[in-house]
Amino acid sequence: MKNFTYFNPVKIVFGKGMIAELNELIPEGVKVMLTYGGGSIKRNGVYDQVRRALSGRAVIEFGGVEPNPRYETCMKAAAQAKDEDVGFLLAVGGGSVLDGTKFIAVAARYGTGDPWEIMEGGKPVTAALPLGSVLTLPATGSEMNDFAVISRNSTGEKLAFASPWVYPKFSVLDPETTYSLPERQVENGIIDTFAHVMEQYMCAIGCSPLTERQSEAVLLTLIEEAPKVKERPRDYGVRANLMWCATTGLNGSLGCGVEAQDWATHMIGHELTALYGIDHGRTLAAIMPAVHRHEITRKQKRLAQCARRVWGIHEADEGVCAALAIDKMEAFFRKVGVPTRLSEYGIDAADAGRQVAERLAKRGVLIGEYGDLGEKAVREIVALAK
Ligand code: NZQ
Ligand code: ZN
Repeated sequence: MKNFTYFNPVKIVFGKGMIAELNELIPEGVKVMLTYGGGSIKRNGVYDQVRRALSGRAVIEFGGVEPNPRYETCMKAAAQAKDEDVGFLLAVGGGSVLDGTKFIAVAARYGTGDPWEIMEGGKPVTAALPLGSVLTLPATGSEMNDFAVISRNSTGEKLAFASPWVYPKFSVLDPETTYSLPERQVENGIIDTFAHVMEQYMCAIGCSPLTERQSEAVLLTLIEEAPKVKERPRDYGVRANLMWCATTGLNGSLGCGVEAQDWATHMIGHELTALYGIDHGRTLAAIMPAVHRHEITRKQKRLAQCARRVWGIHEADEGVCAALAIDKMEAFFRKVGVPTRLSEYGIDAADAGRQVAERLAKRGVLIGEYGDLGEKAVREIVALAK
C-alpha cells in the first residue's frame, strides 16, 4: 500500500427534509449568494425549501450557471459577489453549479491578474470565499471534494483545478431533490459515478486490498440499483443509495493507498465535451471501454479481479476474464441507457481521435497510470470507440 494523507473536511448532511438545517449550517451575520443553474430548482420546489430555511437572512442570487460551467459566467458572479460584499456562497444544483461556485469563490478573492491562470496550472489558490452546497444531481462527487472543472468559451478549453480552499463547508444531500431529474441526467450520473470509481481502481500497479474492496462495493451497489431507478424512479431508498454512491465515488477515500490512478477516460472525455458538447457522463461511457481494451495487457490482473468480484465471471484464463469484464461493463452502460460508441453520437472516431490527441499533446499532457500514453495512444483509444 502506498503512503497517503487523507483529509476531508466536508460536513455531509444527508436525508429527507435536511434542507431545513441550512440556517444552522451557514455562519450568522454573513451575506449569502445563492448560485443556481437554468431554473430546475425553481420548478422542483428546492428553491422554495432553501429560501424558507434562510428566511430573515441577507441573501442575493446568481442564476444561470450553465452545464459545463463557463469561466465568463463565473467571472460575472465573482464581480457581483465582490461588489455586494458577499461572505458565503451557497450552490444549489448539480455538479456544474457546484464547480462554477468553487471557481466564483476563488475568483472573488483573487488579487491582481486573471484567475484563469489557476486553471492553466500556473498559479496556486491562496484564498477563497467559503461555500456550501445543496446537491440535486448525484454524479460528480463535487459536493465532497476539492475539484472543479470549468469551460472557457473564447478558447474552447475545459480544464480542471483542485485546491483545499474549495472544499464545501457542508453539503446537504436530500435524495428527494433527485426525483425531478430527467432520465438522461440520472443515466449520466450513474455512469459518471461508475467511471470515478474505475479510474481509481482499474490500475495496473500496486495493491490496496481494503480500498479495492470498498471500490468494488460501490460498483456492485451501482449495478444493483441502476435498473431499480428506471423501474421505480420515486423509490427513496434507491435514490438515496445512488446519491451516497456518487459522493463516496469521488471524495478521496477510494484513492487511499492506491499506487497510481488512471484518469485517461476523463482526460479524453473532457476534450470530447469541449469539442462536441457531449454530456460528461456520455463521453465516459464511450471512452472507458476503449481505454480498457487498449490497455488490456497491462491491466489484465485488475480486470480479471473485477471480472471475478464484480461481474461473477470465473473463467480459468485470466486474459479471457479481463476481456469479459470490459464487455460486461460496456453492456452495463448500455443497459443504463447510454450509447457507448462515438458513431451513435454522430461523431467520426478517427477524426475525433486526431483532434483530441493534438489538443492534449499541445498542453504536454500524458495520461494513464504510467503517465506514458501520448498522442499515438490517444488517437488509437478514441478510434477504438467508433
Ligand atoms: O441548470 P439546471 O436548470 O439546474 O438543470 C440541470 C442541468 O441542465 C439539471 N438538473 C440538475 N439537478 C436537477 C436537474 N434537473 C431536474 N431536477 C434536478 N434535481 O441537470 C442538467 C445537468 O446538470 P450538471 O450540473 O451539468 O450535471 P453534473 O452534475 O453531471 O455535472 C457535470 C459537470 O461536472 C464536471 C463535469 O465535467 C461537468 O462540467 N465534473 C466535476 C467533477 C468534480 N468537481 O469533481 C468531476 C467529474 O468528473 C466531472 O468532470
Ligand atoms: Zn466524471
